[in-house]
Amino acid sequence: MAKRKTKFVCGDCGYESAKWMGKCPGCNKWNTLVEELEIVGKPNRHTTFSGVAKTGSKPEKITAIQSQQEPRITTKLTELNRVLGGGIVAGSLVLIGGDPGIGKSTLLLQVSAQLAEKELPVLYISGEESTRQTKLRADRLGINSELLYVLSETNLLDIANHIEQVSPSLVVIDSIQTIYREEVTSAPGSVSQVRECTSELMRIAKTTGIPIFIVGHVTKEGAIAGPRLLEHMVDAVLYFEGERHHTYRILRGVKNRFGSTNEMGIFEMKEEGLREVLNPSEIFLEERSQGTAGSTVVASMEGTRPVLVEIQALISPSSFGNPRRMATGIDHNRVPLLMAVLEKRVGLMLQNQDAYIKVAGGVKLDEPAIDLAIAVSITSSFRDIPTRPDDIFIGEVGLTGEIRRVSRIEQRVQEAAKLGFKRVICPQNNLDGWTVPKDIQVIGVKTVQEALQLSVTR
Ligand SMILES: Nc1ncnc2c1ncn2[C@@H]1O[C@H](COP(=O)(O)OP(=O)(O)OP(=O)(O)O)[C@@H](O)[C@H]1O
Ligand SMILES: [Mg+2]
Repeated sequence: MAKRKTKFVCGDCGYESAKWMGKCPGCNKWNTLVEELEIVGKPNRHTTFSGVAKTGSKPEKITAIQSQQEPRITTKLTELNRVLGGGIVAGSLVLIGGDPGIGKSTLLLQVSAQLAEKELPVLYISGEESTRQTKLRADRLGINSELLYVLSETNLLDIANHIEQVSPSLVVIDSIQTIYREEVTSAPGSVSQVRECTSELMRIAKTTGIPIFIVGHVTKEGAIAGPRLLEHMVDAVLYFEGERHHTYRILRGVKNRFGSTNEMGIFEMKEEGLREVLNPSEIFLEERSQGTAGSTVVASMEGTRPVLVEIQALISPSSFGNPRRMATGIDHNRVPLLMAVLEKRVGLMLQNQDAYIKVAGGVKLDEPAIDLAIAVSITSSFRDIPTRPDDIFIGEVGLTGEIRRVSRIEQRVQEAAKLGFKRVICPQNNLDGWTVPKDIQVIGVKTVQEALQLSVTR
């Protein structure tokens, strides 16, 4: 008989302790430790799949291992395929996190239906909704596939049995926080339940080769609920995000064992489901007000794809002692840094000005190549001189005001040319070794001053 003892586990970071503490030593948060029962010894019930390599696992020479391309299932959503690194890898466990109501179930139901149409059976397990509720959603999305099986179940043992019986090509678990294992006594959604269930699902995925998608809820802070180690256990972690008031949704890879992270897929939420957005630059620039001071466009790389995004700045005199520095969509530490560079190297008196910087369209940009566009936006708003509407700014700004080289300049310029921009202001060091598309002028600059001279001087 398995012996049980209790332990205290942090709900945020997974730190374990023998006694209760007010503050978690792992992540320094208060009041996050909860009591959980731990099973000591072997759990007495197992799912029906036999474990891997009970006997006879042996080290192999790496040269002797047959390399093969992982077989991937491609879905009809090319945006999803790209984020996954080219399709769903057999036997992979993929975690999809996102705010409540952002559209996780919608996305996965759509993907399931698309595979089912391709004669691949899919088992969609919902622990949150009854099969009838899932059917209602399917009706709204126009889904009616013969091979899409829906199950409303929360017991992992039963789920495993059903997976074995249906033997699908893809399993979707919506959501991991509702699933439980009997031998773990804590409530569904607790740290040990989530961890145990995930490791069991991992085992099922690896032994059967069936890819499994799991939905994970996120906490108030935006991390996937349950311990951080959930993210370590799975093969890929995708976040589905977007602003409640916008219809655009962004699927972002934060971890992927079979492809690049930093890829993003853009979708639009419609009544009949999610639709892919294949030309994000056009969408992000759609509502751009041309000829107003403080607005520039940057060509930023999102994974392997360039997107053009508008960066807006508003600089206005500060009425209180401490001027405000606010940034949405970019790292807020870059704003004071770039303002200090402008102040010191260009001589702009920005210290008594409030600064608000915004990336239009709700995207998040986190590469240094957007620095120059931010600096030009700030100067443009401060001097109240609009930039030319067909200019693009690319470049990293160093602390001495120098403009530093960026990656993949050719792709960025091509995207700009495609959308009809006429002039690219980019680092001088980036000018060699590639061909400039026709109809676009590329100007190399060495310093911020040079860039400002070209764009925001009367
Ligand atoms: N009739 C409708 N027309 C347009 N959009 C709708 C309609 N019904 C639902 N939606 C959209 O679908 C979203 C809910 O999608 P979904 O249930 O897939 O989200 P979820 O991420 O699975 O939520 P939860 O965290 O509650 O499971 C709503 O926020 C809304 O934007
Ligand atoms: Mg849902």
